[in-house]
Amino acid sequence: MKKIGVIGAGKLGLCFALNLEKSGFEVYAVDIAEDYVNLLQTRSFNSSEPGVNDLLHESKSFFVSTKTETIINDDLKDIFIMVATPSLPDGSYNHTHIEKVTDELTAFGKRKNVVHLYIGCTTMPGYCNKLAEKMQVYNYMVSYNPEFIAQGNIILDQQYPDQVLIGEGSIEAGDRLEKIYKKMVRNNPIFCRMDRLSAEIAKLATNCFLTTKISFANSIGDLAIKSGADHEKILAAVGADSRIGKKYLNYGFGFGGPCFPRDNKALGVFAKSQNCDLKISEATDAINKTHLEFQVKHYLKKYLPEEVIPLDYVSYKKGSVIIEESQQLALAVALAKAGRKVKISDRKEVINEVEKLYPGLFDFVNQQ
Ligand SMILES: NC(=O)c1ccc[n+]([C@@H]2O[C@H](COP(=O)([O-])OP(=O)(O)OC[C@H]3O[C@@H](n4cnc5c(N)ncnc54)[C@H](O)[C@@H]3O)[C@@H](O)[C@H]2O)c1
Repeated sequence: MKKIGVIGAGKLGLCFALNLEKSGFEVYAVDIAEDYVNLLQTRSFNSSEPGVNDLLHESKSFFVSTKTETIINDDLKDIFIMVATPSLPDGSYNHTHIEKVTDELTAFGKRKNVVHLYIGCTTMPGYCNKLAEKMQVYNYMVSYNPEFIAQGNIILDQQYPDQVLIGEGSIEAGDRLEKIYKKMVRNNPIFCRMDRLSAEIAKLATNCFLTTKISFANSIGDLAIKSGADHEKILAAVGADSRIGKKYLNYGFGFGGPCFPRDNKALGVFAKSQNCDLKISEATDAINKTHLEFQVKHYLKKYLPEEVIPLDYVSYKKGSVIIEESQQLALAVALAKAGRKVKISDRKEVINEVEKLYPGLFDFVNQQ
């Protein structure tokens, strides 16, 4: 099991491929974005993700191409699929890219020996079982293996995971994945092995729990502020209980970014499809919005109408350059639209994006 394929070398796939290469695997990546692949091939791609540029420059056994045939090889029996699964308007995930990739694989015909496909993308529960039916005819075994990583820390999160979630298509598939991870990680994670459907639900449930914790902390914080109590002391006391823990229990901005809001909603959508009323997913989302309204009122009161309101950053979390679903940015927009002058300090990339979306709405300070 020396050679490994990775289809979709984007934000997640590239980091995973480079971490695999660093641990001694020969990695064959495939991506359809030609210019991007050229940059990777010439090792001239410049990533904002910490650690990626160094790993890319040092890599000797990381091969990347736009051609799927580079991984159709009898020695290559393990392929990770890491293409995007964008959200549909109803909150469910769109699996079109996975379908395209698997159609390409099946176009090469039935494989002589079993080839393992590990789906690293976030999928709607039940999808991997359907995909497995399609792929088994061509001698592919499908397993689900999502990642719990945060952008800005992907390389380290992959090297030091708390848990490795495996929705195994067979015992052999689970064993192979465990072996690959044991070679790649630098800690001793818990291997959570189960069937594909359970793993798909576990992935969404983990993020739903985290969004719930954030919404809980923000609700209690809002209540403390309204009633004149000390939100920091309250949350520190609640989090000191080891049954609860203090991680993700700070008062601050609501949750945002490319994963938490989507996974939380998708779990609710899946629950509905099963005639199950999973109120927690909707409630967590609703609290995120109520909290934003609370913050807007709070800032409008805190600053005099003629004062400039300074915002330290508007990406979805400090240090990131992503503004997708950023509650900080939503706050800035609401304040500016209420007639206030808002000055945003952030990195150049973020300022450019914000200025494109809201021309002339803000003043900026370039943090770089
Ligand atoms: N990025 C994260 O922080 C994160 C965290 C957890 C889970 N995920 C999940 O991981 C998956 C990938 O996310 P991402 O952020 O890396 O997406 P991305 O858009 O950054 O990368 C996807 C890559 O796949 C390539 N691609 C698309 N179609 C292809 C095809 N037919 N053949 C080969 N390559 C193809 C694209 O060119 C792109 O480079 C998604 O399901 C996402 O929900 C992402």
